[in-house]
Amino acid sequence: MIITIDGPAGSGKSTAARKLAARLGIPYLDTGAMYRVVTLAALEAGADLHDEEALTRIARTADYDLDCGPTHARVTLDGHDVTEEIRSMRVNEHTRYVARSPGVRRVLVEKQRDLGRRLGSMVTEGRDQGSVAFPDAEFKFFMDADLHKRAERRLVELLADGEDVTFEQVLENLQKRDRTDSEREVGPLTVPDGAIVIETSNLSIPQVLDRLLEELRKGGVEIPPTGTASSELATP
Ligand code: C5P
Repeated sequence: MIITIDGPAGSGKSTAARKLAARLGIPYLDTGAMYRVVTLAALEAGADLHDEEALTRIARTADYDLDCGPTHARVTLDGHDVTEEIRSMRVNEHTRYVARSPGVRRVLVEKQRDLGRRLGSMVTEGRDQGSVAFPDAEFKFFMDADLHKRAERRLVELLADGEDVTFEQVLENLQKRDRTDSEREVGPLTVPDGAIVIETSNLSIPQVLDRLLEELRKGGVEIPPTGTASSELATP
């Protein structure tokens, strides 16, 4: 069973995806982390971010790995843990060049489908998971929230990571990313056909999780009772 969750930055999809996956006892995939680590690899290599061929080669050959656990996604590049570094403003500012590259998207979507085939079941989140990577997914969700709310959420995360950043900078970065994510020609941010839209501005994390579980139940999925090992991991 493939469950896709798409939406803009700060919509709450990453937290929801992790918690849903833990509750169901299946893996989750943070595809944003893939674009982020390729961005970091390109920056480290000093690549020209307008060089489509160079970016595609880096996406295909760079030595990066994702370990998406129930409470985190550990990411390594050349054997080093870059989990925090890929969330920095430096990477935030440059992901859009990598995300608009058709070659990079082809490579990453291929990797995502390959993982889906190997794992059989997973919750995968991003911008194009229900529209491009897994159009036939059993369940597709799209999460959205008010821009200011999303900027507040991102600011809290960045400050917690020790970034020296203001609300205005985060807001501007989100607006820029929303625009380039929605306007790019390949894999744009869009509500996938048949997706269930959840507006999260005024919902808490447990409420979002409840909404997701409710839809799965309606779709005939048996949800493991809480208290099982996997669902305990989902408890904040
Ligand atoms: O979800 P997150 O904010 O970590 O994603 C980082 C960036 O990666 C996004 O701004 C977007 O440009 C890109 N992305 C994408 N397609 C995905 C996931 C992320 O283009 N499936």
